[in-house]
Amino acid sequence: MTEISANKRVNDFLANEGKLFINNEWRSALSGKTFTTPNPATGRVLATVADAQAEDVDAAVAAARAAYEGEWSSLTPSQRSRILWRIADLIEDHAETLAELESLDNGKPKPQAQFVDVAVAADVFRYMAGWCTKLEGNTLTLSTPYAPGATFHAYTMREALGVVGLIIPWNFPLMMCAWKMAPALACGNTAVLKPAEQTPLSALYLAELLDQAGLPAGVANILTGHGETAGAPLAAHDGVDKIGFTGSTEVGKLIVDAARGNLKKVSLELGGKAPNVIFADADIPAAIEGAANAIFFNQGQVCCAGSRLYVQDRVYEQVIDGVSRIAGAIKVGDGRAPETVMGPLVSAEQLERVSGYVAGGLADGAIAAAGGAGIGGEGFFYSPTVLTNTRPEMAVVREEIFGPVVVADRFGDVADIVEVANDSIYGLSAGIWTSDISKAHRVAKALQAGTVWINCFNVLDASLPFGGYKQSGWGREFGHEVLQSYTQTKSVVAMI
Ligand code: NAI
Ligand code: MG
Repeated sequence: MTEISANKRVNDFLANEGKLFINNEWRSALSGKTFTTPNPATGRVLATVADAQAEDVDAAVAAARAAYEGEWSSLTPSQRSRILWRIADLIEDHAETLAELESLDNGKPKPQAQFVDVAVAADVFRYMAGWCTKLEGNTLTLSTPYAPGATFHAYTMREALGVVGLIIPWNFPLMMCAWKMAPALACGNTAVLKPAEQTPLSALYLAELLDQAGLPAGVANILTGHGETAGAPLAAHDGVDKIGFTGSTEVGKLIVDAARGNLKKVSLELGGKAPNVIFADADIPAAIEGAANAIFFNQGQVCCAGSRLYVQDRVYEQVIDGVSRIAGAIKVGDGRAPETVMGPLVSAEQLERVSGYVAGGLADGAIAAAGGAGIGGEGFFYSPTVLTNTRPEMAVVREEIFGPVVVADRFGDVADIVEVANDSIYGLSAGIWTSDISKAHRVAKALQAGTVWINCFNVLDASLPFGGYKQSGWGREFGHEVLQSYTQTKSVVAMI
């Protein structure tokens, strides 16, 4: 059954069975298996796509290897750059359609899909296009105490890794394609990308654009499929030189295990449980609005979401009251309805997971200052929720819920809050709200997090390194740091 859209491209796209994109050709899975992806706002099937298995992974890796050893490596950096730039232009040309598909498949509000997900995806391709021509090595002067009198000419080269496997989640499906694929290709690698099984559609639409942009056959292959049957064989594949993964910390550890066979490189962007700390001297209305956005954006399905809210005693009641009021007023509904501010969760499983955490927290003595339950109906809707009366040992405080649920607690002084904020296995991001700039920078230094936001939240940029301390990951996305993740250094020494 196909959803009706006013956009003909969306309808045509949904009406066709999604195939695997291997060597710039559309192929069914060798097994003939398929699976369906539902619209989370209705639970009804949107489209059918191929279900890649290990033998399809083999075919995609072989295509990526041939492209790496062939045409892709023979292009100049400038030629690579132009292709990536064209991909960005095409993403923008198709922004409407991509946004609608993303909203249908993931549930998020369509304007958000268009002005955040699609816009950022294009921006990341463009930013990375600029790096193609700027990958440099160094020349060095050697001292070699054991070779007196000898002189050498030594230099380093920054080379691609080869074939990279990219495994991404469902919370920002197209944006995650761009986050991973753009730097991988900019650095001269070829790729096999597996989107999440919950949200395969925008990656397939992107595949069409990659082809139109002139990306040579086999440079980027896209396999729709499940974690255990397509992701795991990709992660374990001996023909893959690196895995770039975003998803749960649990699966991140499986990726590390799977990489063991050929010791492929691994970069991981994993879970979070970000502390968001509001001091009494902050601009309180701004902090209240910021704290609500920090958790409720994208239905709370954000790895860097501000999911632990800590408020200084004097303003605690005021802030909780303000955030709870915002939570209560958020219009939850179908992501394509113009009045919708928050869509459904991505899947029935995610709804069950979030409901289970909140029910557990309430049973342990937490109080719902807002929300606290599902919304019912045929979609996977959950009410924006604020939990107070939590204790540090509760699962809702310690574990990543990945839904519109914030746990709130109060604190006295700076020393206490740094310790509490850092009491987590995660360290992806953190927020600080204060008008005291010295305190802001002091606390920013003390927080164990890959990104710290001061008087703002969820601000990411293609130029700004992003990644985790502790169990939130290995390596950094974005900026020049991401280039380390997709290249290796060769040192060349010549006696002269
Ligand atoms: P997940 O980590 O299972 O899925 C992410 C990707 O990994 C998907 O493409 C999936 O197919 C793949 N995958 C799953 N098992 C695999 C395996 N054994 N080998 C290789 N690839 C595999 O995340 P899931 O189950 O969708 O969500 C569970 C929880 O994970 C969420 O509630 C949330 O807490 C967290 N999560 C964190 C994300 C982040 O951005 N850091 C994104 C998505 C989920
Ligand atoms: Mg999973």
